[in-house]
Amino acid sequence: MTSDSFLSIDFGTSNSLVGAFHNGQRYEALPLDPKAQDPTMMRTLLYFPHPDLCYYGTEAIEQYIEQDMEGRLFRSFKSHLPNQNYLGTVLNNRILTLESLIGVFLLELKKRAEKILDTPIEKAVIGRPARYSMDPVADGFALHRMGKAAAFAGFKEVQFVPEPLAAAFDYRRQLSSEKIVLIGDFGGGTSDFTLIKLRPEGFAKEDVLAIDGCPLAGDALDSVFMSHRLNEYFGAKSRYRLPMGSNVLTMPPAVSQRLNHPAHIVHLKEKETYEFIREVKKCSLTQKDADAVERLFILIEDQQIFPFFENIEKTKRALSASETTDFIYDYPGLEMKETFSVQQFIDWATATKEKIFSALDECLKNAGVSSQQVDLVCLTGGTAKVPFIQKELETRFGKERLQTQAHFHSVLSGLTESAGFWAQGQKVT
Ligand SMILES: Nc1ncnc2c1ncn2[C@@H]1O[C@H](COP(=O)(O)OP(=O)(O)OP(=O)(O)O)[C@@H](O)[C@H]1O
Ligand SMILES: [Mg+2]
Repeated sequence: MTSDSFLSIDFGTSNSLVGAFHNGQRYEALPLDPKAQDPTMMRTLLYFPHPDLCYYGTEAIEQYIEQDMEGRLFRSFKSHLPNQNYLGTVLNNRILTLESLIGVFLLELKKRAEKILDTPIEKAVIGRPARYSMDPVADGFALHRMGKAAAFAGFKEVQFVPEPLAAAFDYRRQLSSEKIVLIGDFGGGTSDFTLIKLRPEGFAKEDVLAIDGCPLAGDALDSVFMSHRLNEYFGAKSRYRLPMGSNVLTMPPAVSQRLNHPAHIVHLKEKETYEFIREVKKCSLTQKDADAVERLFILIEDQQIFPFFENIEKTKRALSASETTDFIYDYPGLEMKETFSVQQFIDWATATKEKIFSALDECLKNAGVSSQQVDLVCLTGGTAKVPFIQKELETRFGKERLQTQAHFHSVLSGLTESAGFWAQGQKVT
């Protein structure tokens, strides 16, 4: 019987988790990726060595390396959802829409969960960020596409629950009296906030005072290392002069913006952009300019994009634990060594941080609640480990009101609780 079974899916930009509500029983995070360090957390990665074969999560990375990085590896594809100009991609002349790309991933999550629970499941509670985009039209478009992706994966009925609201349900379980709680979920793609009146005895829709967020988080922090320093190695500042032209030009933003962002950089491979970069190299002003563009070719052609950004991410994490760290890359032709400090990271990330925290201000404003009125601040998501994020919250709310445990499982836990509500015939949103 399938009617009594629900999956809860925290489909994240970087990591995905799945739980279930099955035969009246809660199942916490299922071990979907046995090869992962934490098998309950599957990296949101797809690897197609060729269009008819796909690997997921840890295996995607393993196979990508084993198969000499041939084929296509997709990461952070959730962030494309609100982008109306991003329809999908082409794999060996075959069009793969974003909905089907996400659908393929959700289908795999579904199949693995069904195998563990030994039952087919057609209903799912799926998390959604507070805002896929600051533009409400793009936000609606993103949610519509997620609905299509879920249908592609074979789900017959789906409820979408805001991720920070789900995290709030999880925290409710720890409370013994009514409190005004701010939940901050700092993930890979989005930073999400919920301000909610949490009561141990239950939940009513009116308890949600405000939900807000912004599409900037961990990936945006990775990108500052590229945009403020490393992209120079790849010709971001290379100068060129077109034949017959008199103006000295530098790499246009269309190229450098792609170069800077982990979700967009793979699009440098697209034919037109690629051809354009080739022209730039031919017309470089000096040998130094040409050498940098050559490095960009090596990065793209030798499939170094993914490992390069993995190294940036590692560097960023290291700065959560120590004051300085070395960024070392030793692929032939791309050798580089830079030392980064926490202070540099803070300076480079200032604009991103300000945008993230203005979404928090907006959330408080919409709820008509001052920061003094907030009793408790609960943090979740990997980017909540970044010290300057925690520090900013400490400055606003004070250390005693900040709760920082349970970094990765809170959203899933609340989605599973929502699945339980659904099983009892109640809707959360
Ligand atoms: N120790 C750390 N220091 C800094 N950042 C970290 C650390 N650990 C994880 N991260 C970052 O956390 C992010 C992943 O967090 P999480 O798994 O919560 O995101 P997600 O749920 O996949 O994304 P989203 O909710 O935005 O869709 C990545 O950007 C990762 O680099
Ligand atoms: Mg998340």
